[in-house]
Amino acid sequence: MTPEQAPEQERREPARAAGERPAVARRSLLGWGGAGLALGAVAAGGTATALHNDSADAASDAGRAVPFHGAHQAGIATAVPDRLHFAAFDVTTEDRAELIQLLKDWTAAAARMTAGHAVGEGAFGPIPESPPDDTGEAAGLKPSRLTLTIGFGPSLFDKDRFGLHEQQPEALVDLPSFPGDKLEKARSGGDLCVQACADDPQVAVHAIRNLARIGFGKAAIRWSQLGFGKTSSTTPDAQTPRNMFGFKDGTRNISGTDTKALDEHVWVAEKDGPQWLAGGSYLVARRIRMHIETWDRTSLKEQEDIFGRDKRKGAPVGKAKEHDEPFLKAMLPTSHVRLAHPDSNNGARILRRGYSFTDGTDGLGRLDAGLFFLAYQRDVRRGFIPIQRKLARNDALNEYIQHVGSAVFAIPPGVRDEDDWWGRELFS
Ligand code: HEM
Repeated sequence: MTPEQAPEQERREPARAAGERPAVARRSLLGWGGAGLALGAVAAGGTATALHNDSADAASDAGRAVPFHGAHQAGIATAVPDRLHFAAFDVTTEDRAELIQLLKDWTAAAARMTAGHAVGEGAFGPIPESPPDDTGEAAGLKPSRLTLTIGFGPSLFDKDRFGLHEQQPEALVDLPSFPGDKLEKARSGGDLCVQACADDPQVAVHAIRNLARIGFGKAAIRWSQLGFGKTSSTTPDAQTPRNMFGFKDGTRNISGTDTKALDEHVWVAEKDGPQWLAGGSYLVARRIRMHIETWDRTSLKEQEDIFGRDKRKGAPVGKAKEHDEPFLKAMLPTSHVRLAHPDSNNGARILRRGYSFTDGTDGLGRLDAGLFFLAYQRDVRRGFIPIQRKLARNDALNEYIQHVGSAVFAIPPGVRDEDDWWGRELFS
């Protein structure tokens, strides 16, 4: 049988070994008659056991699909693609059953999109009189390592909303205000969040747009952030990316393959409670404006003193190579690395996964540029909060940055298989 003679479905998705994820092009699934959102999740399923521990080789395979099902959600320990679209949502329905249905529909759509398929019955039919299930702009594009990661904000657990108050994790607290914060309400908070990471920005934007569309009447986008040029990686053997200040960023991040460090510092353990969050994590998102115009007029020496690392190689003060162990006492007491280092914070470590942004200008002739800081951790009270307390008080970097947006979310564990859905344990 020639490829032309193969049945329609086979030509779109050729036979493959179990668990293998080829870089299939996205297509509408016309001809799958009757396959709606729920069935779509089954179609996109594949093996359910992946743990999402990608290694650096993923970086050379930018078009492929990252498994959606697994013990942990993808988009945390998996390799970091170069583009981000992050959205925080307000839940607008007051009906618990509607919220549950939304989460089920989102899960089904997310399973399909991360596998490189269109939502539901696709972008081109089958009923000309109805709007298509998928908006269409990702048709023909590769899966692009798209990951979709959901989170639940503290406000979702408010009394008299969805009956979740008793399930609110103790660690899911609104962040305290830190010295120097200038937080904008319109860029902060949210009942739900979805982090979409992909190699192709159009694939990430398509994913958020389609989830927002499915959510119409039940959830509305509260704020969103586009990001480019990842500023941290989870693959230490890959080249460390640079941030908008031109420094290598992510040198001493938690690696996506360091299961010991992930268990200790990123994944919520069963004994931590609550039960529904075991295998999940907490996410802190901060929109940090970077005053690049002032920075660009600062001497190289001062820039390096501020971080405690050299700009060319990223080596810590007094050391020759980027990955040499930092000697903190050789750095200024106000240097960023000295203050953020685990030795200065009772061993606290976080998994950083941020992106650079530039969102036009600020009306004063300066770029609205910065770091969209994303950090995953097992407990914000032992991760971001103490580290940021220290940084906000003493970091020499503060002269050049300002935190303008903030949010915190509980990140549920992974969707285990085709019958599972985002938040099932929470709502059971
Ligand atoms: C615009 C703001 C920021 C910039 C430009 C920035 C940049 C950097 C750079 C260049 C490094 C050194 C390379 C590395 O090990 O990654 C670093 C390290 C680090 N930063 Fe930041 N950072 C910012 C904000 C923050 C915030 C808000 C936190 C957490 C509250 C944080 C936590 C850390 C940690 C934990 C390290 C590693 C320290 C070590 O173990 O040596 N950073 N940052």
